[in-house]
Formats: sequence, C-alpha cells, structure tokens
Amino acid sequence: WAMQAPYVAAINRLKQERNAVVLAHNYMTPDIYHGIADFVGDSLQLAIKATEVEADVIVQCGVHFMAETSKVLNPAKTVLMPDMEAGCSLAESITAEGIAEMRAQYPGAPVVSYVNTTAEVKAASDICCTSSNAAQIVAAMEGDTVIMTPDKYLAQNVAKQVPQKRIVWWDGACIVHERFTPQDLRDFREWNPGLRIIAHPECPPDVVAEADFAGSTAGIIDWVGREKPEKTMLVTECSMATNISDAFPEVEFLGPCNMCPYMKKITLEKVLYSLHSMSGAVEVDPKIADRARLAVQRMIDLSR
Ligand code: 13P
Ligand code: SF4
Repeated sequence: WAMQAPYVAAINRLKQERNAVVLAHNYMTPDIYHGIADFVGDSLQLAIKATEVEADVIVQCGVHFMAETSKVLNPAKTVLMPDMEAGCSLAESITAEGIAEMRAQYPGAPVVSYVNTTAEVKAASDICCTSSNAAQIVAAMEGDTVIMTPDKYLAQNVAKQVPQKRIVWWDGACIVHERFTPQDLRDFREWNPGLRIIAHPECPPDVVAEADFAGSTAGIIDWVGREKPEKTMLVTECSMATNISDAFPEVEFLGPCNMCPYMKKITLEKVLYSLHSMSGAVEVDPKIADRARLAVQRMIDLSR
C-alpha cells in the first residue's frame, strides 16, 4: 500500500480536477477497489450506475465491454478505458454474424445476450442479461425457445432454473470460471470440514451443482453478508475474496486463486495516465449505440 499511496492520492486529486468518477467492477485489485473507486459493483449495478452519473467523465475500471455499456447508456459522458486491451473471452467469442447464424437456425426465437458482449452484438440482440437477472429475463421471453449467447455455461445453469423454456446457446465460455472443476470443490470440502461454497454461474453446471449457492458477484457478497460462514470458498475471480475480506473479518476465505488476465490489465498507473492525458476514450457508433441501448435498457427495466 505504501508504494501505491502516491498513485491513489494523485488519481483522487485528478478526479476532482476532471470532474470524473471511477466505476469499478468487483474483480478489480484491492488498491483500485478500496483506493480510488467511487462505486463498486457487479455488471448490472455498474450499468445502472452509468445511467445515473452526472460527472463529465467516467473512468471504467473493468473490461472493455463495461466501458462500451457505460458509453451506450450515457453517451454525453467521456468514458475512459485505462487499457483498451482489457477484453473478455466471452465478448471475443461472438460477433453480430454469430447472432444472425443463431437467428437463422432458430427462426423467431428471441436472442438474450449476456452483457459480456460488444455493443455490436448487443445491437443485434433482443435483450441483454447479466448473471444476476438471467433466469428472470429468460423466463419473461415469449415463445418456447430462447437463444442465449455467448456463455454456454450460464445458459446451461439458467436452463435448470427455467425448465419451461428450451434454451439453445452459443459455444462461449469465461476462461476464469471454466477452469474450476467439481473435484476442486470436493477436495476443498474434504480438507476443510464445514466449508460453505458459493459459485458464479459462469462456472460449468457440474461445478455449480457442488456449491451451496450460485450468484453474480454482488449476489456472492450479499450471501457472505447474510450467511456469515465460518469458512467459505468463492468459486470466482480471486480478487473478490481479497476485496471483501476486510468487511467480514470473522469469515475465512479459502480456495484456489484464478485471476482474470483482462481485468488485471487495469492498474493504478494506467488509470493515472488515462485521467492525466484524457486518453482511452471509448466511442460507439451512434447507430449501433441506439440499438444496443434498447437491449440494455429493456434488461434494466425488466430487472427492476
Ligand atoms: P458479474 O459481476 O455481473 O457477476 O459478472 C462477472 C464477470 O465475470 C464480469 O466479467
Ligand atoms: Fe470475461 Fe471471465 Fe474475465 Fe469476466 S472474468 S471479464 S467473463 S474472462
């Protein structure tokens, strides 16, 4: 922390000069999460917050699709992305052509795209979803068949929660959550009697089946606060446990540390550079933004 303190101080000073706010995802490193964020949350909370920002500048501490979503929802603001290379294996797995292929294969079926997609893919979809509202959104769709893109595991997990729908999916996965195996969870339970396990729904269904509960990153934080387990394993990106451990000193956090290489591209140094030089502004073609906004806004309206 001593090494990072000057960066934190400089960024917080610059935020005032530029009239900027920092929106940070729960997977950011603790220096960002605790040191410079004005708002932290899961993907849905960040999207909703972006619609409410009054400051001139949003610094998105997260990955590129999150910055695009903020720009789409609040186009008058300058949205800074401290590292344009901070992508996402899910967002990179599908293009608008992929959505067209799925529509051709399942004519008339609504397309529900995860927010972990580019603005172009959102624009080609009927509605978006996040891990906190996916089952609710899918259940609200008309017709028997629903196309879910691009996360096959989220789709398979939702299929169990919404058995009345036939869900078909794109073959994408999150490189962080697909690495966990059911055996990892069984091993940690055996080594730590009384361990409570919570998994993110981007994990394969056989992993979710071994957990006590599944939820979005905000759902995971709520669950820990509610259940106050003596020992817990968060089957998700590694920084989550570090970020929330101070708030729950009575809880012991255990488990393997799987990091998202994209999220970890965002550093204090890059945030400082971006705010200082006002570089890394995200732009979305206004025609695409208009259509993408419809899909995201529909999701927000249905989630309220
Ligand atoms: P949530 O924070 O919405 O659960 O999303 C997790 C994730 O992997 C974001 O990239
Ligand atoms: Fe994408 Fe997975 Fe990283 Fe989230 S954790 S940004 S879903 S690769």
